[in-house]
Amino acid sequence: MVLVCMARVINIKGESRSLTFTCCGGSVGENVIIPLSLYVWQHFCLAIDLISEHMLVAFDNVLEERQLQIDDAKLLPGTRPRVTGGGRLVVGQDIATLEGQFDVSHNFHGEIADLRIYDHLLETSHVKRFIHCEDKAFSSQVAPIISLEKKSFMIKGQTQLFNISEDEVCRHIPGYTMLFPEKKTFIDSISWCDKLRGDIALPTSLENNIQIFDKFIEFNNECFDVWQALYWVGASGNVSSGQWLRLIDDQPIHWHNFKDSWESVTDKYSCILAGGILHPYEWYHAPCTVIACVMCNFTSHPEVHLRGLCESSLFDRSLFLHEYINNRPKFDGARHSSIIWNNKSWVMESRLYPQLSAKMVDQMDYPVGLHLWNIRGDKCRQKEVYLLLTACRADEFTCDDGTCIDKSQRCDLSTDCPDHTDELTCDVMAIPEGYSAQLPPPKITLKPVPLLFHLNITSIREFNVVSFTLTIDVIITIRWNDSRVTFTNLQEDHRKNKVKQPGLLWTPELMVTDGTQSWVQHGQTDGDDVYSGSNNSLLYRLHKTLKSRCQLDLESYPFDTQRCSLFFTVQGITDFSGKLDKEGAGLTFAGTRQLLEYNLVDETIHDITEEQVTQMKVRLKFTNLYKYYTMNAFLPSTMMLVISYFSLYFDLEDFQDRIMVSLTSLLVLAAFFSQTSLTIPKTSYLKLIDVWYVALISYVFFVIISLIFVENLRLRDIKQQQCPHKTIQVTPFAPGHISSKELATTIHTNSLPARLNCFLIVFFPLAFFVFFVYFVAACADGLKE
Ligand SMILES: *[C@@H]1O[C@H](CO)[C@@H](O)[C@H](O)[C@H]1NC(C)=O
Ligand SMILES: *[C@@H]1O[C@H](CO)[C@@H](O)[C@H](O)[C@H]1NC(C)=O
Ligand SMILES: *[C@@H]1O[C@H](CO)[C@@H](O)[C@H](O)[C@H]1NC(C)=O
Ligand SMILES: *[C@@H]1O[C@H](CO)[C@@H](O)[C@H](O)[C@H]1NC(C)=O
Ligand SMILES: *[C@@H]1O[C@H](CO)[C@@H](O)[C@H](O)[C@H]1NC(C)=O
Ligand SMILES: *[C@@H]1O[C@H](CO)[C@@H](O)[C@H](O)[C@H]1NC(C)=O
Ligand SMILES: *[C@@H]1O[C@H](CO)[C@@H](O)[C@H](O)[C@H]1NC(C)=O
Repeated sequence: MVLVCMARVINIKGESRSLTFTCCGGSVGENVIIPLSLYVWQHFCLAIDLISEHMLVAFDNVLEERQLQIDDAKLLPGTRPRVTGGGRLVVGQDIATLEGQFDVSHNFHGEIADLRIYDHLLETSHVKRFIHCEDKAFSSQVAPIISLEKKSFMIKGQTQLFNISEDEVCRHIPGYTMLFPEKKTFIDSISWCDKLRGDIALPTSLENNIQIFDKFIEFNNECFDVWQALYWVGASGNVSSGQWLRLIDDQPIHWHNFKDSWESVTDKYSCILAGGILHPYEWYHAPCTVIACVMCNFTSHPEVHLRGLCESSLFDRSLFLHEYINNRPKFDGARHSSIIWNNKSWVMESRLYPQLSAKMVDQMDYPVGLHLWNIRGDKCRQKEVYLLLTACRADEFTCDDGTCIDKSQRCDLSTDCPDHTDELTCDVMAIPEGYSAQLPPPKITLKPVPLLFHLNITSIREFNVVSFTLTIDVIITIRWNDSRVTFTNLQEDHRKNKVKQPGLLWTPELMVTDGTQSWVQHGQTDGDDVYSGSNNSLLYRLHKTLKSRCQLDLESYPFDTQRCSLFFTVQGITDFSGKLDKEGAGLTFAGTRQLLEYNLVDETIHDITEEQVTQMKVRLKFTNLYKYYTMNAFLPSTMMLVISYFSLYFDLEDFQDRIMVSLTSLLVLAAFFSQTSLTIPKTSYLKLIDVWYVALISYVFFVIISLIFVENLRLRDIKQQQCPHKTIQVTPFAPGHISSKELATTIHTNSLPARLNCFLIVFFPLAFFVFFVYFVAACADGLKE
């Protein structure tokens, strides 16, 4: 026994894609999985051999052979399974009762082009040839016992008979064209086809052109206009190259059917119309601004989705454009409902539930897009509801007028929909009722909610040693999860997900204190922004200028190292509910490290917990740029020192010059000191630079004292020489021996002042060296800190 069939399924009930075959009192039952698709002619053949207990299933390209499973328990003892004669054969209706009541939920909704039943077995090669439409003579070889051709069937119920060519059933024509009997300009036609995810059709061959024209000529009256055209053709002219280019890929068209002298591309005539009944099959150029019907080409039957229905609604959510009713396309639901043009409005009705209906309130061209519908007889309570009919893919957003745009263009702060609806209702957050902005986010686990803290120091405005202040520009970000809120319309780029009303949301209130435990003055805020990221965490971002006081220790100035600390806490949060934590490193420095006088050498962040409150402690370490002082204070003052020291080398008798040079050095040193003191902070304690100057001034002072002391000794010696009782009278023996002057000098060199002077010449550098070693050690200490 063989069943041969060609059929096209229009509706599928449920999701089952299998075919069940039972016969012979239930002793034979087989289930075959088949790749069923909608709106496509599919070829099917089932051959059963009850004698060899063999079965062959062919479905389009699938060929499956298998052994029959025979259930002996359902057979009379000693019999073989067989098909008993008599009874009725019903096609397209699942008969549950003997009377065969018509039940719309159990019938076949589709088209059958051929159906034959043979009473003897066909060979596999025959079956294959049938499936591939190769065997035209097939039917004449052996006669079927039942077939459509033999008019073996009686037509019952909502069944329609029509003629279809073998070509259409057997040949797969790529694409599916559909004419929309509304006149639009060329540009509007493009966007209309695009809304349904199709393109304006472009006939590609003589045959194709004729076929399309014949299919849609019935709409001539709807489409007829001054230009006597039927529809637009999917090509547009390039004036500079004089070519007609396909809309889909901008390549020159291969085939055309232009009327003579109507095919040139000009500025004015750069679109193509296909003629109506007066100019059958012919094309001619026309201005793009005239109106004609729209003919779209789709890869398959365009599928549209109905959104906005309540969950229990009975209407189909998925519909296909297929055929025409009342000269308008029909949206045919995948199961039972359909949207049709009836009595001057769009209505939705169901084959399955006669009481169920809906009517579109506004009378637009088409129900595509967002429209108000009046629903009756549905399981939902909603009576008037906005429904969105869209052909957009899952990764696209549907504008209210039905145009599809990429989801990433939704709420990206630029309008992309022709009706500007993509930037409406863009709030990324849904704040539930009962949400309190005063309450911090609730814990999800037992751990406190982490508040990830990050501080980006963008610049150090000022580090002032005189007034002890530090002013920095910072970007503070805190990221946390608030399980109470939900997000919509999120973009990849978190900067686009701006919360419209941050006031409605709990946001951390930051308190900043400095090392002196005083409040930090917040400068003006450039913007309080709340963003949300893709992982649904909220990001709070603040641009601030913080002015804090810094406890400076200047003892080693200018070889000092300073540390300033800032403490960040979130007010009203204890470690039971939320805990500050570092995000990544927690701290970034993006400014310049070299300030006027100090260098930022290090910045650290760590958390400290005090009384169940976690604070973020940010510490900045600065070292002094002492080069200035080396050049401007230490070097010249050392020179002064050296000059005053070298006055010891002057002739002992030249006291005037010796004292003058030293005194001048002292004066200059004092001037240096007071000048330097003016520019550095005044402290009650001595800074290293003060120590230096004080030491140097004292040094010069002692040089002067020593000079005076030596001079005094010298003067005393001279007096003693002039006193006769104390003077040893020395007279030369003979001329040519030692002169009197030489003698005097000899005496002089060995005198006490001369020896003291010599001692001082050695002592002062030694003293300075000792001091210098101590000073350098102190400087190194200050820098090392
Ligand atoms: C189908 O075509 C045949 C012959 O060409 C014709 O007799 C018949 O009336 C047609 N049937 C329908 C439903 O158009
Ligand atoms: C329709 O689109 C298919 C591809 O999707 C293409 O092969 C076919 O030529 C198109 N037909 C028309 C009439 O534009
Ligand atoms: C028209 O053709 C010229 C020359 O081939 C080309 O440079 C130009 O880009 C084309 N214009 C359009 C809009 O395709
Ligand atoms: C068509 O609609 C009008 C009101 O919109 C109604 O009065 C009329 O009865 C309807 N006709 C049919 C045939 O449904
Ligand atoms: C810190 O801010 C600067 C300036 O705005 C920026 O260039 C840098 O990327 C930020 N660093 C971090 C880690 O956010
Ligand atoms: C927010 O929740 C996500 C998902 O649970 C998690 O990966 C992320 O780390 C959380 N962020 C914060 C700041 O807690
Ligand atoms: C967070 O987002 C990233 C990127 O979108 C994703 O790969 C990751 O799985 C998400 N994490 C969680 C916990 O959802």
